[in-house]
Amino acid sequence: MADAAAIRVQGLQKRYGDLRAVDGATFAVLPNEIYGIIGANGSGKTTTVECLQGLRRVDGGEVAVLGLDPGVHGAQLRGRIGSQLQSSALPERLKVWEALELFAALSPKRRDWRDLLAEWGLEEKRNAAFGDLSGGQQQRLFIALALVNEPEIVFLDEMTTGLDPQARRVAWDLIERVRERGATVVLVTHFMDEAEILCDRIAVFQRGTVIAEDTPRGLIEQFVGGGVVRFSTQVNELSFLDGTPGLERWERDGQRVTATGSGPLLAQVAARLVAHDIAPLDLRVELPTLDDVFVKLAGERSE
Ligand SMILES: Nc1ncnc2c1ncn2[C@@H]1O[C@H](COP(=O)(O)OP(=O)(O)OP(=O)(O)O)[C@@H](O)[C@H]1O
Ligand SMILES: [Mg+2]
Repeated sequence: MADAAAIRVQGLQKRYGDLRAVDGATFAVLPNEIYGIIGANGSGKTTTVECLQGLRRVDGGEVAVLGLDPGVHGAQLRGRIGSQLQSSALPERLKVWEALELFAALSPKRRDWRDLLAEWGLEEKRNAAFGDLSGGQQQRLFIALALVNEPEIVFLDEMTTGLDPQARRVAWDLIERVRERGATVVLVTHFMDEAEILCDRIAVFQRGTVIAEDTPRGLIEQFVGGGVVRFSTQVNELSFLDGTPGLERWERDGQRVTATGSGPLLAQVAARLVAHDIAPLDLRVELPTLDDVFVKLAGERSE
């Protein structure tokens, strides 16, 4: 059956002995999406993406990657997907260019790895041994290796862990470009800013299941709600704020006013203030972030 999804996971089960590492995870990744997977340590994210790549045998449920079962068609899939290696995966003495050449030679459809060297800032390290690279440089090499076969789907597990802030931003731009070239990206990450900026949709893992799947904004609205608008004014009569669309409540503390609500609250409050000739210089909005979602869900879990 033709499947519009690039990846479809239904009731995935994976046990390590008695431990249910993945316990019924269900989600679907659309073609050309940047799809995030977030969740606490040990919630089954890495195990899941390993199952998707055919690196682990599934105990139950259904997995289709590009319409194929990775448990059966692993070899066929490997040429079409890109995978970020674990840190112990390369011999210490292998040179950067040798690793790229090796991976390029193994892939039926390869791109010029010299471009990747430049893109990922490794030109100077071309002749360096893998073991002599810094942690961040090793990480960049892993990402470059995951892209050398022009994958249709690339799996990145903690892609930017260990990268300096500048390199992280470069990595985000490059991942956007990978998507623009037509690939689907699955990104496991603990960086909520990264997930929020980069991902079209995100699955939230908790104890081996997906407890929510939505856009970053959708998750924030679902779990944390709207934002807060703050400003100061000497004007005492503010009852015109009542009934502002999206406003849940407002309160004042001396000159400081706090309005809580959702939707286009800032614009609505600002419009009403201006209509009443009030133009606070310190008007600002504080929107919740994906961080707040994560903290809220982590808190619920420990209750
Ligand atoms: N090879 C293994 N053998 C036994 N247990 C394992 C193995 N790999 C993972 N686990 C266990 O399975 C559970 C899920 O691990 P997994 O690595 O998938 O989590 P994760 O969500 O990727 O966590 P993290 O955010 O820390 O990377 C954990 O309890 C972990 O200890
Ligand atoms: Mg992991």
